[in-house]
Amino acid sequence: MRTTVGIVGGGPAGLLLARMLHLAGVDCVVLESRDRAYVEHRQRAGMLEQGTVDALRACGAGARLDAEGLEHHGIELRFERERHHIDFPALAGRTVTIYAQTEIVKDLVALQLAEGPPLLFEAEAVAIEGADGGAPVVRFRHEGRERTLRCDWVAGCDGFHGISRAAVPAALGRAYEHEFPYSWLGILADVAPSCEELIYARGENGFALHSMRSPSVSRLYLQVPNGTDVADWPDERIWDELAARFATDDDWVLERGPVTAKSVTPMRSYVHEPMRYGRLLLAGDAAHIVPPTGAKGLNLAVSDIRLLAPALIEVHRTGSTALLDTYSERSQERVWQATRFSYDMTKMLHAQPNGDAFDRRMQLTRLRRIVASRSAAAELAVHYTGLPLAV
Ligand code: FAD
Ligand code: DHB
Repeated sequence: MRTTVGIVGGGPAGLLLARMLHLAGVDCVVLESRDRAYVEHRQRAGMLEQGTVDALRACGAGARLDAEGLEHHGIELRFERERHHIDFPALAGRTVTIYAQTEIVKDLVALQLAEGPPLLFEAEAVAIEGADGGAPVVRFRHEGRERTLRCDWVAGCDGFHGISRAAVPAALGRAYEHEFPYSWLGILADVAPSCEELIYARGENGFALHSMRSPSVSRLYLQVPNGTDVADWPDERIWDELAARFATDDDWVLERGPVTAKSVTPMRSYVHEPMRYGRLLLAGDAAHIVPPTGAKGLNLAVSDIRLLAPALIEVHRTGSTALLDTYSERSQERVWQATRFSYDMTKMLHAQPNGDAFDRRMQLTRLRRIVASRSAAAELAVHYTGLPLAV
């Protein structure tokens, strides 16, 4: 097979890139190692910045998002049994939208299968060769055969556990990493959300987040120790712990319902520099991951593509690599801003194992400052709702 841009990975980054290239008349092929049902049902993120919504609309993937997405005007910070509203339009002039990553993937897959370019499921890339020369090749397995995809450019959009990042020689790359000593246990539940906006709660026993997927489906997360086995968390225990962490002194009640999905996710910050090696471009989780507090992972994957797609389109139209040559640098600035924000949100809201009374007072002091000071709240709101593409 031969194409202009070989895209490894059919997650949000790879699918959006394929869509934007296709609309600009640039040939590409997407290789996705999993099957369609798997990628369409993998539970992950749900909070979209305005820039992400705009990008999906601009490429024709906004119809269901506009009909079913829930526009939110703020979040609630909850600590010491009190509730504090952070007003995004007043503080940052922007809103956010709740629409699940599963639905974005379904919308982009449907468009691609209907209109092209080729999207191969159960096509696992095993090697990327020749990225430093003029004619890179992606070797992949599909339908029991070893095949090759010859291309001008390779987009490594294969997530944190993919193969693309390893194709950058270690001597030319550098990774920055931080592991957090806790994980999130996430559930989906068939019950109307107990709130109108997302609640980020710092409970004395740890963090809890109340999010949602629709007016009848709730998504909730609980800080748990690393290595937690979901089998140790029957539904009643999860609801009891959530209720304790969200408890307030007013009459707020957490509604319970049947749990339909349960999983544990470790938390890590990771940034790989650079995001380009010759004709290989990395985007999304393949290049960087953030802890989920602050909901930046999916939004960063989309902003990478909003920088990468025009750069590849420019090469195709004019032969100029000017935009591509600065892609890594421009993207990374935004990545580091989101990495810092996610890190601080995580540290401020999670119980530190073995943390002492001083650590707890520092967390509460940060939270109190945010709810007391307009400029401190505005700083949170500006990052949460998303920095401009060029930071
Ligand atoms: P991915 O979505 O990981 O897509 C990569 C794709 O590449 C996958 O479909 C994979 O199957 C495919 N692939 C991998 N290797 C190969 C190969 N060798 N050949 C071909 N295809 C390959 N973010 C938030 O903002 N909030 C959250 O609550 C949240 N929860 C998360 C929970 C989990 C368990 C995980 C893993 C991530 C979560 N994230 C969350 C982060 C967010 O989902 C990611 O940032 C986002 O999915 C990144 O999109 P991506 O396209 O870069 O990577
Ligand atoms: C969701 C996940 C997050 O990490 C977050 O900060 C907000 C919302 C979600 O899955 O809905």
